Amino acid sequence: MEKNPFGTLAAAGNASEDAACCGDDCCGDVSAEITHGQLESISAAVQAQYGSLAENATERAADTSRVKATDKFYSDDQRNALPDAAAGASAGCGNPVGIADAKLGETVLDLGSGGGIDCFLAAKEVGPEGHVIGIDLTPRMLELAVETAAKLQTENVVFKLGHIELIPQADNTVDLVISNCVIALSEQKDRVFSEILRILKPGGRFVISDMVTDKPLPAEVQSSPAEWVSCVAGAAVMSEYLELVEETGFTGIEVLKEERSRPDATDWQTTLINLTLRAVKPLG
Ligand SMILES: C[S@@+](CC[C@H](N)C(=O)[O-])C[C@H]1O[C@@H](n2cnc3c(N)ncnc32)[C@H](O)[C@@H]1O
Repeated sequence: MEKNPFGTLAAAGNASEDAACCGDDCCGDVSAEITHGQLESISAAVQAQYGSLAENATERAADTSRVKATDKFYSDDQRNALPDAAAGASAGCGNPVGIADAKLGETVLDLGSGGGIDCFLAAKEVGPEGHVIGIDLTPRMLELAVETAAKLQTENVVFKLGHIELIPQADNTVDLVISNCVIALSEQKDRVFSEILRILKPGGRFVISDMVTDKPLPAEVQSSPAEWVSCVAGAAVMSEYLELVEETGFTGIEVLKEERSRPDATDWQTTLINLTLRAVKPLG
């Protein structure tokens, strides 16, 4: 569905300062620190980008000149319930837990959990009888999430190192899969949705916020590593994304929210959309 720009580029120094998964500055400007040597694979580049974001999360939370994901998508109460570092690491393009209607006692799994903001919100909704599992491939993000769980004394959340293309979770064990601005970072979206179908219980659902587009991105954007790690270059055309979800075997596909990612843009960025989507694993 999209091209992998890694390994084919001559330079990484042209990272745009405002490249971000969720708007003006949600992911920070750390793309500029990625060196050619780190661009050997998408995973290495993602770990460099989001490891750096986790490292600088407290400073980022304090920087009022930046528009952050917490400013755009979360209430003050949700933001203030978190330590600054956890809020500063937030880099989503929606608030899936806010509309997922997680129930007491359910098992929720968050793909690409980052600093854990959505896991901690879900943990409150499922209560002490419920479970929340966060999966992420960036060790520094997981460390931050585990530190936050300890600070908040949250006992019903675990964080696991892993890939969303091969989820470390048994078949038919999850009631609700959530994800926030992560699948756009995968070049194997078909595998990701197959894995979601595998781990959900029959009748289980996903509520996912992700970056998509309404038409193909310019070739130079698709081949930019900086735009890839910012969740932009790998954003699928929305109609193809919805087709993929249906072809994977989900039913009850429902667009819950669809809004321009960069409402003030006048160039190719006008095509970027923050999508929140719900779908169900059939019962039989
Ligand atoms: C844009 S951030 C969003 C983090 C979090 N969902 C939030 O809303 O703050 C993307 C996160 O996904 C993780 N990630 C990216 N690709 C991944 C993959 N293939 N498998 C697991 N985690 C991945 C990154 O390490 C990063 O923490």
